[in-house]
Amino acid sequence: VQDSSSPSARAPITRKKIHGHVGFSNLPNQIRRKSVKDGFQLTVMVVGESGLGKSTMINTLFDSPIYAPREPLHPAADRPKTIAIESTQAVIEENGVRLRLTVVDTPGFGDFVNNAPSCNPILENIEQRFDAYLSQEHRVRRANLVDTRIHACIYFIQPTGHALKQIDIEFMRHLHHRVNLIPVIAKADTMNDDEIADFKERILSDLEFNGIQIFQAPMYEDDDEESLAEADEIARAIPFAVVGATQRVRTRDGRKVRGRAYPWGVVEVDNPAHCDFGKLRQMLVRTNLEDLREYTNEVLFERWRTEKLLAMGYTQDASVFAEFDPAERLQEDRIVHEAKLAKLEASMKEVFREKVEIQERKLKQSEVELYGRHKEIKDQLNKQWEELVKKKAQLEGAMSSPDASRKKTFRG
Ligand code: GTP
Repeated sequence: VQDSSSPSARAPITRKKIHGHVGFSNLPNQIRRKSVKDGFQLTVMVVGESGLGKSTMINTLFDSPIYAPREPLHPAADRPKTIAIESTQAVIEENGVRLRLTVVDTPGFGDFVNNAPSCNPILENIEQRFDAYLSQEHRVRRANLVDTRIHACIYFIQPTGHALKQIDIEFMRHLHHRVNLIPVIAKADTMNDDEIADFKERILSDLEFNGIQIFQAPMYEDDDEESLAEADEIARAIPFAVVGATQRVRTRDGRKVRGRAYPWGVVEVDNPAHCDFGKLRQMLVRTNLEDLREYTNEVLFERWRTEKLLAMGYTQDASVFAEFDPAERLQEDRIVHEAKLAKLEASMKEVFREKVEIQERKLKQSEVELYGRHKEIKDQLNKQWEELVKKKAQLEGAMSSPDASRKKTFRG
């Protein structure tokens, strides 16, 4: 194992045979066959406050003593700390499949009154790695590019149970455009289940409020149900509540497990009922290993590359970029949208006008009909009236004539 802060330095590699199970050998067979020959490659960075268990977590994740134990030599002594960015390479073999792993440990922060500058060396390290890759891409012979870019950044959050600290927000805000952020709640054995659930919710809402983007594992629709459910379970557990421990301890029922022993029992690292360590490991080296690499290459590196080339005055790229200026595109979209709305409004008005006209015509028609009917009834009534008047006159005439009454009397 070799420490080196320079990303482009080729450190000698130590082969390690591990005894525990990591999981990368379970990647889908197709990818596996292709990759068995070359092995997989992953570069993970750990960032967070001092003493949150970053180095321990790396050792736990890969079940290997990648970092020497950082416990103080005697209880009264200070705990040895990571004081510089350290890059360590190891080749881990599992079921004949190799994982070339680079771990980048960063000095913990939080011991300084002014923490603001501490983020810059980390960001610089990430960008230097992009630089190293870009300069390889510009070579005439581009075969066998060495990818030292950071594929995942595990960000350690202190298990306070309160809101995210300002320093964490600042750090993540600086890093999220350059790296796949995977937030974890460190030392989750110090919180109970309810506290963890509340803290997770709070962290997610703080991240959203501050516009911090964390790694979102893609869902593949053509995956079988089991894989989809597994991926969903992992996604729901973010930010992972993790416990790190490399030592094996004995549980009350006599099992020997990796964990932390307390008077009240053992917190088991590999037990999903105790912490999310297994889910973090699964995401990193099994379910999303390729997704992390792909997103780094296609989105994060491309974004950095575009910005870099623009800053270097590559006007051709700039003009292409300008064509896709988001503000201009938004304005264009708005104009098209408004034109569509105006057209829609005009056609609605036309339909409305037509409907009113039809209704008016109908009303007029029924008015005419009503008027005609009214006139007809009135005429009939007038006629009946005239006939009645006529009859009345006849009767009155007949009654006033004496002949008529005699005749009637005689006949009767
Ligand atoms: P820096 O090098 O200062 O950045 O520290 P670090 O974040 O690398 O922490 P490190 O791994 O050195 O662990 C610090 C202390 O925390 C050690 O005493 C570990 O045994 C302890 N520790 C690590 N992980 C856990 C955990 O999950 N729970 C508990 N309770 N303690 C832990």
